[in-house]
Amino acid sequence: MANYPTKRLRRLRYNPVVRDMIRETHLDKSDLIYPLFVVHGTNVKKEIKSMPGVYQMSIDVLVEECKEVSSLGIPSVLLFGIPEHKDERGSEAYDSNGIIQQAVRAIKSNLPNLLVVTDVCLCEYTSHGHCGVLDGEEILNDETVSLLAKEAVSHAEAGADIIAPSDMMDGRIASIRKALDYKGFSKTPIMSYAAKYASGFYGPFRDAAESTPAFGDRRSHQMDVANAEEALREVEADVEEGADIVMVKPAGAYLDIIYRVKEKFGLPTAAYQVSGEYSMIKGASKLGWIDEERVMIESVLAIKRAGADIIITYFAKDIAKYLDRTRK
Ligand code: PBG
Repeated sequence: MANYPTKRLRRLRYNPVVRDMIRETHLDKSDLIYPLFVVHGTNVKKEIKSMPGVYQMSIDVLVEECKEVSSLGIPSVLLFGIPEHKDERGSEAYDSNGIIQQAVRAIKSNLPNLLVVTDVCLCEYTSHGHCGVLDGEEILNDETVSLLAKEAVSHAEAGADIIAPSDMMDGRIASIRKALDYKGFSKTPIMSYAAKYASGFYGPFRDAAESTPAFGDRRSHQMDVANAEEALREVEADVEEGADIVMVKPAGAYLDIIYRVKEKFGLPTAAYQVSGEYSMIKGASKLGWIDEERVMIESVLAIKRAGADIIITYFAKDIAKYLDRTRK
């Protein structure tokens, strides 16, 4: 190998055409999933304070939004529902007439080609805001898993294309897979939130989904932010139980985890650039402290460079517009 002065790494950086030619990582619209929050009612479009540009929408507005998403070339949306009534067992989550089930049917009948992914969890639906059934202050694992399996089946029955369990209970992937197969949905993939950390970056989401726990936190099921080896064990468990796509969440502060998961398992890997990652970029750019578009692209490109095949991001629409503008 030549050394300086024969070798000059800057040689390939002077000419923008050469830079374009040797670029290693490219964003593509087909990488993107756009998260959406759906509420009951009609003509509702309510901006989430801590997430400028992100709204709670009623189904009529949601369908129009999905038409725009689709016309921008974004292939997929991820749905979160805010129920009419919350109760101890989160029953609207697995009600065939629940908010998500209605929303999925409406989207699929208007836009059959838009890929609809549904988040499977109970936290938006329980009166206490926890991700499962409680005994005192303990979140019961196995009781919760059976409700999650019911929820997953009801999403598939409504027409969901991919089921995405985000709860972090043990054994839920196996139960959901079994329930889906039993009900005739053996072709419906599971995208598992496999390595999901107990992260402060979810703060704004809890405003959006109205899912802040009434007491305590999620540390008894979501992962300790300090752990990486454990993330690999979590992913391995989900893969063994039948996950088709594995997810790391959050994304930006966990690029090492994305990289290791992709290296070790080689499976389709998703990364979720979560609400707090979005809000920080939005907030700092609002203050004039950073260039929003530049940082947006840099943050998402880094997630892809780390190994993510699929990126779930609230910036999806802005990225699609950016790609339209900048791609020849
Ligand atoms: C749970 C869920 C959460 C997010 C996605 N699914 C919140 C949580 O675990 O508290 C967070 C997403 C985000 O912050 O953008 N249903």
